[in-house]
Amino acid sequence: MSLPHPSVLLGGISPDIFLRDYWQKKPLLIRQAFPALENPLSPDELAGLALEDEVESRIVLTQGATPWELRRGPFTEEDFKTLPEQDWTLLVQAVDQFVPDVAELMKAFSFLPSWRLDDVMISYATPGGSVGPHYDNYDVFLLQSHGRRRWKIGQHCDDQSPLLDHPDLRILSHFEEQQEWVLEPGDMLYIPPGIAHHGIAEDECMTCSIGFRAPSHQDILLHYTDFLSQYLADSQRYGDPDAKPVAHPAAIDDQSIERLQHIMLELVNDKAALATWFGRHMTEPRYPELIQPQELPAGTLLEELQNGYGLMRNPSTRLAYRVDSDEHLLLFASGEHCLLPATLLPLVQLVCNNDYFDSETLLGWQTDDEAWTLLEQLLAKGDLLLEGDDE
Ligand code: SIN
Ligand code: CO
Repeated sequence: MSLPHPSVLLGGISPDIFLRDYWQKKPLLIRQAFPALENPLSPDELAGLALEDEVESRIVLTQGATPWELRRGPFTEEDFKTLPEQDWTLLVQAVDQFVPDVAELMKAFSFLPSWRLDDVMISYATPGGSVGPHYDNYDVFLLQSHGRRRWKIGQHCDDQSPLLDHPDLRILSHFEEQQEWVLEPGDMLYIPPGIAHHGIAEDECMTCSIGFRAPSHQDILLHYTDFLSQYLADSQRYGDPDAKPVAHPAAIDDQSIERLQHIMLELVNDKAALATWFGRHMTEPRYPELIQPQELPAGTLLEELQNGYGLMRNPSTRLAYRVDSDEHLLLFASGEHCLLPATLLPLVQLVCNNDYFDSETLLGWQTDDEAWTLLEQLLAKGDLLLEGDDE
């Protein structure tokens, strides 16, 4: 698939201007963002994925047994046969992990950090199909890949915005329409977090939602403190060597709170610990069960490469890195991290930014013990896969 240049992708706007004026701020409609788009998978192939156990899928019927009825996958072929002619949507999560052409779409967004990208959800809708007016807490690019869908944009929303009384779906009870467009294949709509949107299929259509990861403050606090607490000794305690006699023994005074604030601020001030936790958190895979350790006899890597096979990145693996100092860098892979010498930066960048590595390139690292160990470890953990295994 040929990917559009960023200026085409963003409708003539440079990534700089897009980030300044639209990103996280206001919606942007881009006609023909992907001018030569070929639908990366057919409705039948999407339905096929929804039959698989390891794939998350849902069907929303605008008027089923109840309004906005939600059915959860995996589905059977029989389930699809009993669906009405129209007014329903099938949604499949993280299709990029199963279909390489869909993963390819994400590369068009490489002006944004890859660890901010989450997944590509694909919906297939019959005429009238909709998942209702709603808002999301993350940025999304809605790329029309087949047929036409009408998108309505509404008000700014937050946790106080009234919702319908629905057990599973967060559907807005009020929608204040502000703009409306019909998207054709290749058109794309950017929607920032918190903006109400409502898509209704004009005819049979498919939409790819390129969604982003944004940890909630709740998650940041909870998971960072959880991570950090592993490294704190039980003997590290609240202390008050500056204590003075008190007149009111039950009162909690300001100094006591300030001592606590001091402890907390010192802990949060540990930039290295925060960065380590963040890299691990942002690379946590959605489907960890799809990254299985591989037991390979010693010498397998060299043998495979010498036979001309390359390596592939496991499509479920998430990778990122951080240059820590002049001497070190941290590589984050599937929620774990390792400290590496800074000399491995070119290899780390290669591994993080590509999904296929040919034998010739990798054999160039054979004489560097640390580089070779890294490749062997990523292979053993299942983050990298042998191309030969795919045949
Ligand atoms: C859809 O594709 O129908 C829904 C996508 C979204 O609103 O985020
Ligand atoms: Co949405």
